[in-house]
Amino acid sequence: MSETPETPQNPANAETPENPETPGALDDGEHAAHARQLDAGDPLAALRDRFTLDTASDQASGDAGIYLDGNSLGALPRAVPGRIAEVIAREWGELRIRSWTEAGWWTAPERIGDKIAPLVGAAPGTVVVGDSTSVNVFKAVVGGIRMAGKGCTEILVDATTFPTDGYIARSAARMTGLAVRPVEPARIADEVTERTALALVNHVDYRTGRLNDLPGITNALHSAGALAVWDLCHSAGALPVGLDAHHVDLAVGCTYKYLNGGPGSPAYLYIREGLQDRFESPLPGWNSHVAPFGMDPAYAPAEGIVRGRVGTPDILSLLALEAALEVWDGVSIEDIRTKSLALTDFFLDCVAGYAPPGRVRSVTPYDHRWRGSQVSLECARAGEVMNELIRRGVVGDFREPDVLRFGFTPLYTSFADAERAARVLGEVLRALPEEGPSTGPATDPGPEPAGAGG
Ligand SMILES: Cc1ncc(COP(=O)(O)O)c(C=O)c1O
Repeated sequence: MSETPETPQNPANAETPENPETPGALDDGEHAAHARQLDAGDPLAALRDRFTLDTASDQASGDAGIYLDGNSLGALPRAVPGRIAEVIAREWGELRIRSWTEAGWWTAPERIGDKIAPLVGAAPGTVVVGDSTSVNVFKAVVGGIRMAGKGCTEILVDATTFPTDGYIARSAARMTGLAVRPVEPARIADEVTERTALALVNHVDYRTGRLNDLPGITNALHSAGALAVWDLCHSAGALPVGLDAHHVDLAVGCTYKYLNGGPGSPAYLYIREGLQDRFESPLPGWNSHVAPFGMDPAYAPAEGIVRGRVGTPDILSLLALEAALEVWDGVSIEDIRTKSLALTDFFLDCVAGYAPPGRVRSVTPYDHRWRGSQVSLECARAGEVMNELIRRGVVGDFREPDVLRFGFTPLYTSFADAERAARVLGEVLRALPEEGPSTGPATDPGPEPAGAGG
């Protein structure tokens, strides 16, 4: 993974499909038959039943809706409502304050961190859950700057980052007297210097779905004496991350995308084991104190990952997330990756077969080494196209100015979903040719046509 990422290729727009075995030229029936074959051979297919998804009766068309926005908000795991009802009735309703100890509320941030840890290749005791990703970016960046060498004058920030990371990093740098330099991920190895404290990088680009080179970039940062801070929002639960194996220093991520924790579910912070005793939180709330109930006016940090905590955890959301994570029992992240690549390959082939030639262009790399778990297609009138897709029961999302995003969650997305989404996209593109009467959305969808997540 340490080579320079290649320029994205463009299978959805290619004259001849890149992969000779893939059936870009098949007719509709053959794509559908191929989807059935792939679903029949899918070892993860049964997991779909563990989620609440649309059924045929939910749609006027008689077809079940297709959800391809799990890269923004994951679908509801069936285990969650019952568990939350129980937490409310029994733990809050009856045990009340006793639940902090008797129901394990107090230790939930570390316990649930240990459930996320194997999914991102981290040892127990290195992940803590709580707060939003933005808040954890702040903790990680300031904490990282405080660990860096005295002569450091700058931090690097992924120039293509999801905006919140950039906003927070700039504020953190201002507070600590450092400069911020935006750098494209592929250029970080060339741009890092001995004055760089750390680089904050997105593992998968939220807009294009490009997978950045975590091992190579981390290694280059370390060679220059800088720390590597990764944002895993778009990779955790979709592909192997290998935090410990690649010696990542600090990482953050959300849990509402591929981890299906629910709207606004708490994020997590990873601190490499060997750095934990040097981690000085910029938000040293009482939950991270060595003796939180000692009520000592003087702050003394707890040992280990507990240092990443701040204040009282959001118990209902945390416990919803814990129930959502049950679906991962016995599921290997390598199998998830295999299916994710197969789904995105198949979708790209179907789009090549169904879309009018030249109408869409994939900005997601075709090369598996640099592909996350979404397909982003550049497309004229993308806002209108996505609104029409949603109206016809295919939910992806739209990113300014012209990107259609389709997220593939291997836990519940089927090959039949991928085939039908591409087929409906082809129909919509024929109905909305490139030169349309207007460039704005066909209907007013509000600020985000589908979902508020990045
Ligand atoms: C890469 C990335 N980082 C950060 C965020 C924002 O996270 P939060 O709203 O939890 O602070 C998002 C949201 O989608 C994201 O995609």
